[in-house]
Formats: sequence, C-alpha cells, structure tokens
Amino acid sequence: MNSLELLYEQKVSGSLIKDLEKFRQKYSLEQSQEYRVSRPAFPFYGREILEMSIAALLQGENLLLCGSKATGKNILAENLAWYFQRPMYNISFHVNTDSSMLIGTDTFEDNEVRLRKGPVYQCAQYGGFGVLDEINMAKNDAVSVLHATLDYRRLIDVPGYDRICLHPAARFIGTMNYGYAGTRELNEALVSRFLVIRMPDLTEETLMLVLGISFPDAKKEALAQFAGLFLDLQTKAANSEISTKAMDLRGLLAALRTVRSGLSPRLAVSMGLTNKCFDGFERELIEDMVMTRIPEAWTPGDIF
Ligand SMILES: Nc1ncnc2c1ncn2[C@@H]1O[C@H](COP(=O)(O)OP(=O)(O)O)[C@@H](O)[C@H]1O
Ligand SMILES: [Mg+2]
Repeated sequence: MNSLELLYEQKVSGSLIKDLEKFRQKYSLEQSQEYRVSRPAFPFYGREILEMSIAALLQGENLLLCGSKATGKNILAENLAWYFQRPMYNISFHVNTDSSMLIGTDTFEDNEVRLRKGPVYQCAQYGGFGVLDEINMAKNDAVSVLHATLDYRRLIDVPGYDRICLHPAARFIGTMNYGYAGTRELNEALVSRFLVIRMPDLTEETLMLVLGISFPDAKKEALAQFAGLFLDLQTKAANSEISTKAMDLRGLLAALRTVRSGLSPRLAVSMGLTNKCFDGFERELIEDMVMTRIPEAWTPGDIF
C-alpha cells in the first residue's frame, strides 16, 4: 500500500517523505482499527502547507488549521492521516460539547459500570489522528480536559479510572474557521499547545484542480467560469461586501453534479450558492455576479 505518489508529484521535500516512510514502518496498526485508515475522497493541493504540516507532525506536534470556509482544512487533515497511515477519529465541537463526549461516559453493561470510550480516548489508545473539528466552537472548560493530552504530558486523566498515556503515534489536528468576520476566538492556553497553520484562500489554480478532478468530463472553459464565480465571491467576501454564505465550494460542486444530471446551470447555481443567502439585498448582489459568469441560456450541454 503506497499512498505517497501524490507527495512526490507535488514535489514535497524528499527528506520529509523519507522520514514519513520511517514513521510508517515504526508504528503498526491494530487490526480492529484498520477500517479507519482510508484514502480521502480528494487529494489536498499545496506543497508548502503539506511540508509544514508533515514536518510538525513528524516532530510529535499537534496542528491547528485556521482559515476561512472551504480552504481545505478537513481535506488536509484526512490526507495527513492517510499519508501517515493512521486511523482517524473525527470529533465535531459545538457549544454543548463536554469532556465526557471527548473522553468517555460511564455505561452499565453486564452488571457493571464501564467506560464507553470516547473518540479522544480511542485516538490515544490506538495511535490515531484525532481531528478536533471547529475546536473554537466549544466552551473553554470543555476543552481544558485536553490540556494535558495536548502538551508534553501526553496523557488523559479519566476521573475514577486510570490515567492513560498517549500512544506515541497519536496526534491531534484542530480546525478553526477563521472567517472574515465574526469568529470565536480560541483561548491562549489552548493555542499554545499547537503549531498553527494559516490556510491560504483558494487560488484559481487549486480551484481548477479541484473542479477538474471532480468533473473530468466537463469542458475546461465552462469550469473556468464557475471557478471565476467562486473567486469573485471570495474577493467580495474578503472586502466585506457580502458574507461568506454564498462562498460555498461544497455547494458549487453539488450544483455541478445536478447540471451533469440535466438541470439548467443557472438553476443549479441558485440552489448551490445564491439561495444560501437569506438576505434579499445580498442575494441580488450575488445574482448580478452570477449573471456575468453563467449565461442564462446555458444548458447542461454547454458544460458537459
Ligand atoms: N488546497 C486544496 N486542495 C484540495 N482540495 C481543496 C483545497 N482547498 C479546498 N479544497 C476543496 O474544498 C472543499 C471543502 O474542503 P474542506 O476541507 O471541507 O474545507 P474546510 O474544512 O476548510 O471548510 C473540498 O471539496 C476540497 O476538496
Ligand atoms: Mg471544515
């Protein structure tokens, strides 16, 4: 099983790739967790970001990926788990996240109280890559249980149970939507336990790669218009002329899929992008932008 071709293709530093191979040889994987090691749906593009994250993880550091929506934070985390060949545990954070959801809860089984292990516990035990998704959305006291896990102590203290040490291959990757406006900050004590990567906004080149992989059957010129529309939205959002609601790459990909199955491109873009804005004024601004890129007369045949 070799998953490193893509790193060579992107000209990632050879010495990093060598060390990555050593890491993979050093740490075996428990059979029960093999299903958690899987090839991501998309490759992540970006040599510099890959080099920074691989170097940090090789040194045993945890990573915090900050950036606006659709900058590939989750896809990068998935790619890293795959390159390191470690099982991945995904944990979505929200205001009601508490420590028991991370570490575990008491359950009553076979007439005894047992710990039902949470994702952070499992990650620690099996040497996984734990993705702490949107970690800034949780309340600070919920994440404070992770302090000892994330720093040099590398352990989890489960009240009433043993304290467990992290498997040497275990790593944590936090993601955080750092938008153009209205971001919840992460407290300093937590940030200091990560190396931080600022994810760059999408470029035309990356966008065309992403669109080309998802729609190899589409006409390049047509895809370029969709990419252009997304970049227009990104620029306007960066200038605070619109919110980031319509700047939705997942929505754009979904729209193109509906076009492939026969829907008019304009209607598809309404569903995938424009209608994500519920404010009438903003929606009009976006409709104007769509008009200049996607002619009303276009049919699926103009794209596929
Ligand atoms: N640098 C990149 N390389 C590959 N895909 C990317 C990149 N940036 C964004 N994407 C694409 O953007 C979409 C959203 O990515 P995701 O990881 O969910 O973003 P985020 O978690 O930052 O909101 C995915 O379809 C992904 O393929
Ligand atoms: Mg995400």
